[in-house]
Amino acid sequence: MDRPTDPYTSPYHAVIAGYGASVPEKILTNQDLAQMVDTTDEWITTRTGIKTRHISTENETTAMFATQAAKKAMQIAKIKPGEIEMIIVATITPEMVFPSTASFVQRAIGAKNAWVFDLSAACSGFVYALSIVQQFIETGRMKNALVIGAETLTKITNFKDRSSCILFGDGAGAVVIQNARDNRRGIIYSTHYSEGDRWEALNCQAYGSRYPADKKLEDPDKIYMDIKGREVYQQAIRRIVETVNECLDKCGLTMDDIKMVISHQMNARIIESAAKRLNITEEKAFLNISEYGNTSAASIPIALDECARTGKIERGDIILLVAFGAGLTWGANVIEF
Ligand SMILES: CC(C)(COP(=O)(O)OP(=O)(O)OC[C@H]1O[C@@H](n2cnc3c(N)ncnc32)[C@H](O)[C@@H]1OP(=O)(O)O)[C@@H](O)C(=O)NCCC(=O)NCCS
Repeated sequence: MDRPTDPYTSPYHAVIAGYGASVPEKILTNQDLAQMVDTTDEWITTRTGIKTRHISTENETTAMFATQAAKKAMQIAKIKPGEIEMIIVATITPEMVFPSTASFVQRAIGAKNAWVFDLSAACSGFVYALSIVQQFIETGRMKNALVIGAETLTKITNFKDRSSCILFGDGAGAVVIQNARDNRRGIIYSTHYSEGDRWEALNCQAYGSRYPADKKLEDPDKIYMDIKGREVYQQAIRRIVETVNECLDKCGLTMDDIKMVISHQMNARIIESAAKRLNITEEKAFLNISEYGNTSAASIPIALDECARTGKIERGDIILLVAFGAGLTWGANVIEF
């Protein structure tokens, strides 16, 4: 099909040249969780759509999954480590406070010519990072970049809190973004928003300057994620609907033009409710949360990898990535794959 209205007129296009994902082998089922907290498989399935999640062992870290996903993406893109100019790892569960998780990925893959950093925008991290890379490519400043979403959320999950511990899983997904003078492919449009006033809806307060390691926590549970599930639920649906409508409008597209909407996998009910309001058919609203749970910044690239590997999306298809998460943050990318 013809390329839709492109709000940017650069001759360079930020094309997805490779994709990959890596998740821990260890699986935690709803039945396992029912042994740990007062819950049931039936409650978790009907309220969230989650059946299992992949969880890291003590020795498995965020950079390990990020590196494995990156290597797979580079293999598909047929790119050498020395050709990569930028690595962004979107994460809220980094390898350590500093240096960045991206530094460990750079070292592991030998991308000696890259400048690298982490991006903290929670579940929106991957769509934010894609947009940053898009700017450098469209201005002609860069040819090849790695964008990775990687998390080990179960390391900051309170497995005594039944309302949150059922939700999260670990893993990483990556894409190689390449500069192409190809009119028919690439990132068409990106949009992003933040609302710091609602930071309390989703947070993890330890490990930063507010609660440094030598200050005793008045509430020991502050070392874990805290979520106001109801508030997040309502805001997520509202913002996803607004953002998808904006994307269609700005790009001169209708839902008929979109092959797949790949939403951040936060709760199947949130995705289904938003899809219903947007008239997105079941086959166009991608869901894999039943296997992985919510993997925050990793969830969209893990889903993208699955869609590409299984032929659900093919070269030339227009896809829409949309995310919502802590900050609050939200955003989307429209991409001709
Ligand atoms: C967390 C979430 C699944 C809860 O579902 P919900 O339908 O909103 O449920 P509620 O929070 O209203 O709780 C309803 C009842 O179920 C109970 N409940 C909560 N977790 C439970 C569990 N795992 N098993 C059984 N009962 C549970 C609650 O205690 C409450 O009981 P009460 O009515 O006696 O007080 C849902 O709100 C959600 O997915 N929110 C967004 C999650 C999020 O923040 N994700 C990360 C950012 S993208």
